[in-house]
Amino acid sequence: MARIDALHEISPLEGGGNSRLAFTDHDKAGRDLVVAWMRDLGLEVTIDGIGNVVGVQPGFDVSPVMMGSHIDTVATGGRFDGNLGVLSGLEVIEAVIESGEQLTRPLAVGFFSNEEGARFAPDMMGSLVYVGGMGVEEALDTIGIDGKRVGDELEQIGYLGGAPVPGTSPHAFVELHVEQGPVLEEEGVTIGAVESVQGISWTEIVIEGQSNHAGTTPIRLRHDPAYVAAEIAVFVRNLALRFGGDQVATVGRIDLHPNLVNVVPATATLTVDLRNTDEGFLAQAEAELRARLVELANTEGVAISANVLARFEPVVFDPRIVDLVERAAKRNGHSVKRMPSGAGHDAQMFARVCPTAMVFVPSVEGVSHNPAEFTSVDDLAAGAQVLLDTVLSLAGGYPSQEAHASEPPHE
Ligand code: GLV
Ligand code: MN
Ligand code: MN
Repeated sequence: MARIDALHEISPLEGGGNSRLAFTDHDKAGRDLVVAWMRDLGLEVTIDGIGNVVGVQPGFDVSPVMMGSHIDTVATGGRFDGNLGVLSGLEVIEAVIESGEQLTRPLAVGFFSNEEGARFAPDMMGSLVYVGGMGVEEALDTIGIDGKRVGDELEQIGYLGGAPVPGTSPHAFVELHVEQGPVLEEEGVTIGAVESVQGISWTEIVIEGQSNHAGTTPIRLRHDPAYVAAEIAVFVRNLALRFGGDQVATVGRIDLHPNLVNVVPATATLTVDLRNTDEGFLAQAEAELRARLVELANTEGVAISANVLARFEPVVFDPRIVDLVERAAKRNGHSVKRMPSGAGHDAQMFARVCPTAMVFVPSVEGVSHNPAEFTSVDDLAAGAQVLLDTVLSLAGGYPSQEAHASEPPHE
């Protein structure tokens, strides 16, 4: 909790949250603090070509069991999103060191660059590059919403490192995170054993119309990007209602230009975030959106272009690690539920290269990406304990017998 509070003191927001957009000076200050804590624990710290930072216990010649998450936030973020997974990883390593427990594998903890994707798309950029899903040059050349380039910003904060990417695959990866949704709280369950992550589709849509006088231009003669943007927002809401199930749809950003009370805008730029646990439904949602854009371009006489910012298929985690999480929860007397994740996470990238799963703890009222995000100390501690037990099972520590019985993954 002391570390969570100290990291919160960097770029705090009224109401308890943080604004630490990727590769800003605030991000740098957070990084410096966490790196100092890694060094305090005697970890070997590496920084790679996209600024991912990994601390690993020295003195082993086998691959580590890795924990971690991210310390960047959205501009109106909570204090737990991401930070919990990194700082609980430090806590786990500290507890193991203090206990004198001898493990057969080192433990590692990492924080991965630009998980949020709020300033630079795609989200989970650092972990995606780590696992070889995106070339580092392409990532470094990404331009953000403020016109800045990832590579320049990363260099400016001193985190353009020399460790190679893709990075070496860990033996296994486990990420503790707040649920960021209402399910655990509603059902009175303390631990989520996360089985999967839903698919994500981000599109930036630019609508070009004709700027004109708001008083004199008859409606029949308008080519109005603001109207079209509104139609898109309503369309995706109705699409989600029609699909039902897990489908969600969000217009999170709209920019109008020139954005004046008495001017029909010249352009509208908006983003659409579509998610579904089912790849078929997600692809269908995208196709229906594209068809609607063509229709709107024709009826309103505007030009519409669509640019994919991020696209990740649903991910299924390794059932053996999910079992370990579930068992660790039960062994500690916590209620546990196997569940999917609604948010994107670094763990979904690691699932491409090693056995991976996640641990969730409840979010009060399911609020996240909001300074009001909150999880009780008891629930945070329960999650950290489950994380500890799970990685011990994977790294040859107590309770190893149970881990062997469950046939843990081998290299
Ligand atoms: C990342 O936080 C996302 O799921 O948008
Ligand atoms: Mn997160
Ligand atoms: Mn987030």
